[in-house]
Amino acid sequence: MRQESRKRIVLGLTGGIAAYKAAELARLLMKQGVEVQVAMTEAACHFITPATMQALSGRPVLINQWDASSNGMAHINTSRAADAIVIAPATADFIAKLAHGLADDLLSTLCLARDCPLLVAPAMNRQMWANAATQRNIAQLERDGVTLLGPCSGAQACGEEGMGRMLEAEELARDILAFFQPKLLSGMKVLLTAGPTYEAIDAVRGITNRSSGKMGYAVAQAALELGAQVMLVSGPTALARPQGAQVVDVTSAAEMFDAVKQHVADADIFIGVAAVADYRATQPSGQKIKKSADKLTLELLPNLDILAYVANLPKPPFCVGFAAESENLREHAKAKRKAKKLPLLAANLAQQAIGADENELILFDDAGEHVLPRADKLTLARALMQHVIKLRNAKI
Ligand code: C5P
Repeated sequence: MRQESRKRIVLGLTGGIAAYKAAELARLLMKQGVEVQVAMTEAACHFITPATMQALSGRPVLINQWDASSNGMAHINTSRAADAIVIAPATADFIAKLAHGLADDLLSTLCLARDCPLLVAPAMNRQMWANAATQRNIAQLERDGVTLLGPCSGAQACGEEGMGRMLEAEELARDILAFFQPKLLSGMKVLLTAGPTYEAIDAVRGITNRSSGKMGYAVAQAALELGAQVMLVSGPTALARPQGAQVVDVTSAAEMFDAVKQHVADADIFIGVAAVADYRATQPSGQKIKKSADKLTLELLPNLDILAYVANLPKPPFCVGFAAESENLREHAKAKRKAKKLPLLAANLAQQAIGADENELILFDDAGEHVLPRADKLTLARALMQHVIKLRNAKI
């Protein structure tokens, strides 16, 4: 039986080489509990077989407009049952059809007959993308309220390089799921810190930690999905920026503090995910310190606590802290929440969390503790943001 909360998507494939990515996309969406009904144009069937898409989605693929079993009404029935139609890949030709309201096969008819949102992931050669006709058609789709997913720039199947490449399956799945999130933080500003900091000792050496920034970036992504305006103050990481976030790159804790101070006044929510270095060198050397046989003593000064500063402002935003501990997680986390005067603190075991793709969080608030079981960091971040919204609403 169908669970009412499950989303239903019609995944439409048109005839482009990026069709192979649609197989992975179907799999990822289904893993997230989305029901996927695949529809393919005839051209798409030259790039990937309907048998593959049927096996992955667990449903017969819709191709033929004249299929007698649906009484010629597949375009109406299927679009009525869908929460959204996603075209991936969408060729230049199919985009032109959509822009002009043509309906000469099942998939284009389905799009025209829909009463649900349409999401389109363009995939084409860079010259075709740049062509004035395509750009006109894309602008028309945007005016019509169609959501564009990508494209991005990169190596193309034709050997050229440039704009027009379809997003990867993971990116598409992320954007499609984000599309369905209720925009509970619309009009709100979320300020976040993420990643490690780097405190210079000399011109080439420094003090840092193994934080990858993955959790902070996932929280930024979750806030974006909820419609928030996100300002991400990021220490050095190798991660792709969350699309739609304003990112301020910093290196040291002092720079992170300055950036937070500059932007905190109009923040509604502040989340300190960064693993800020607790100490910095008292006198970093401008030149590389030369090796010698003597003992080298490094004097360290404690850094200012950014989160404690924000939480103790006269009118603080709703503050969330993170605590990475290697032992006695609960005791340390509770003490930290109290010391920094935080309404909410998310605690994790450092040895499990740092650099990993998955994690487990325990949330501490006035009501006690709430375990967010082991999951990928984006799933945890989404659950954390739901908790933030609940607490904040209760406070208002
Ligand atoms: O006290 P501890 O460093 O374990 O606290 C961790 C929390 O405090 C995290 O949310 C971290 O981002 C924040 N923090 C901070 N500035 C510091 C140290 C930690 O904002 N200098």
